[in-house]
Amino acid sequence: MDAGDMGPALKEVLITAEQLSKRTEELAAQIDADYAGRELLLVGVLKGAVMVMADLARAMHLPVQMDWMAVSSYGSGTKSSGVVRILKDLDADISGRHVLIVEDIIDSGLTLSWLVGNLKSRDPASVAIAAMLRKPSSAQMDIEVAYTGFDVPDEFVVGYGLDYAERYRNLPFIGTLAPEVYGGNTSR
Ligand code: XMP
Ligand code: MG
Repeated sequence: MDAGDMGPALKEVLITAEQLSKRTEELAAQIDADYAGRELLLVGVLKGAVMVMADLARAMHLPVQMDWMAVSSYGSGTKSSGVVRILKDLDADISGRHVLIVEDIIDSGLTLSWLVGNLKSRDPASVAIAAMLRKPSSAQMDIEVAYTGFDVPDEFVVGYGLDYAERYRNLPFIGTLAPEVYGGNTSR
């Protein structure tokens, strides 16, 4: 699929499938090196991180385990408020384990900082974050993202797991949505 197949809703391809795959290999090599000799649990955040998780885990050489969480951020209107509700919790106890949260995108950082706090309260050996994309607004939050794929502009992006109203998740690339589709407000 390319941008043209999606009709007029897609503005442009921002990151190609090849770029995603190359960057994923680089991140996987870094994570392999950083966690060598340790057992790592990858925690994917549903649903957006499905593609990142699948590709990152396969690009790694360390044996990893995978678990998933689904959260929903309560917001008044379109902004993420940082008040988060767990829709699906982890299957297993993480105490004493090395945890790497795998996310599609960090925007305001509110969801991830809540998640880090929540997971840390379960007494893991460590908690770190890998996010394929990072928006400029995340710089305002004091949150450390150990592994990031790409910086993206403050536009609404879709594809590679990211959706707009549950559509576009299966695009193999990251594209920007035409502002007329989402009303120009990039927060949600
Ligand atoms: P915060 O602001 O808490 O929110 O860091 C992160 C979550 O917001 C969603 N998000 C997006 N989803 N295109 C999307 O499809 C975007 O451009 C975008 N920006 C933020 C996403 O669910 C992420 O987990
Ligand atoms: Mg998400």
